[in-house]
Amino acid sequence: MASLTIIPLLFLCTTLLILVFLPCYRADPDPLQDFCIADPKSGITVNGFACKAARAAQYSDFFSSAISKGGSTDNPNGSNATVMDATVFPGLNTLGVSMNRVDFEGCINPPHVHPRVSEVGYAVEGILYVDILSTENKLYSKILRAGESFVMPRGLLHFQYNMGPGKATQFVSFNSQKPGIVFAPQSLFGSKPEIPTEILAKAFRVDADIIEHIESKQWFK
Ligand SMILES: *[C@@H]1O[C@H](CO)[C@@H](O)[C@H](O)[C@H]1NC(C)=O
Ligand SMILES: *[C@@H]1O[C@H](CO)[C@@H](O)[C@H](O)[C@H]1NC(C)=O
Repeated sequence: MASLTIIPLLFLCTTLLILVFLPCYRADPDPLQDFCIADPKSGITVNGFACKAARAAQYSDFFSSAISKGGSTDNPNGSNATVMDATVFPGLNTLGVSMNRVDFEGCINPPHVHPRVSEVGYAVEGILYVDILSTENKLYSKILRAGESFVMPRGLLHFQYNMGPGKATQFVSFNSQKPGIVFAPQSLFGSKPEIPTEILAKAFRVDADIIEHIESKQWFK
């Protein structure tokens, strides 16, 4: 008998939990129309971009070759993320999705966070060491090969490292038209204006000259 009364209660609790927490799974607000092709020239500031008139939409607003080629990897990271967000693909405006292509010729996509969104990625080439750090400071890692996928939960620090002798390429998608990215090294050592050296020295418990040495690496800026 007891179980009969518990079942509806459990059902009610689960439904309530789902209803209360459902909005957490969305990053961007829901669209109110079929599409809203971004009009970057409109001069109106809204959450996203103002729409150009629906009748002015063209086939080219719904297609993009932004990530058909990778960007140059000739930089200190040896990697380049080619972004396909609503700023380069106006048709994405208000739809809550976007993609990047990340090419690794050398080694690393440094530790970073997408503050507003989760990310799901797919490796098409190479061997990548993919790592995710939880808020409990636990590191989840895997050596990812072509055809395999990963998910980066929203706001968690993560990085990728090319382990192979050759190139590695992955495509990643986000539940936002503009996910945003915060690189940990650049935030700490390349902010404008700079975080006072004394504070970083205390935070890392090292001498100030070690912080100054890191800050002197101009490519952070
Ligand atoms: C990434 O690739 C783009 C396109 O090739 C290039 O303009 C940009 O300078 C590259 N970034 C770095 C840091 O190499
Ligand atoms: C390389 O890493 C730094 C942070 O460590 C970042 O600021 C920069 O944008 C990265 N460059 C590319 C091309 O990803």
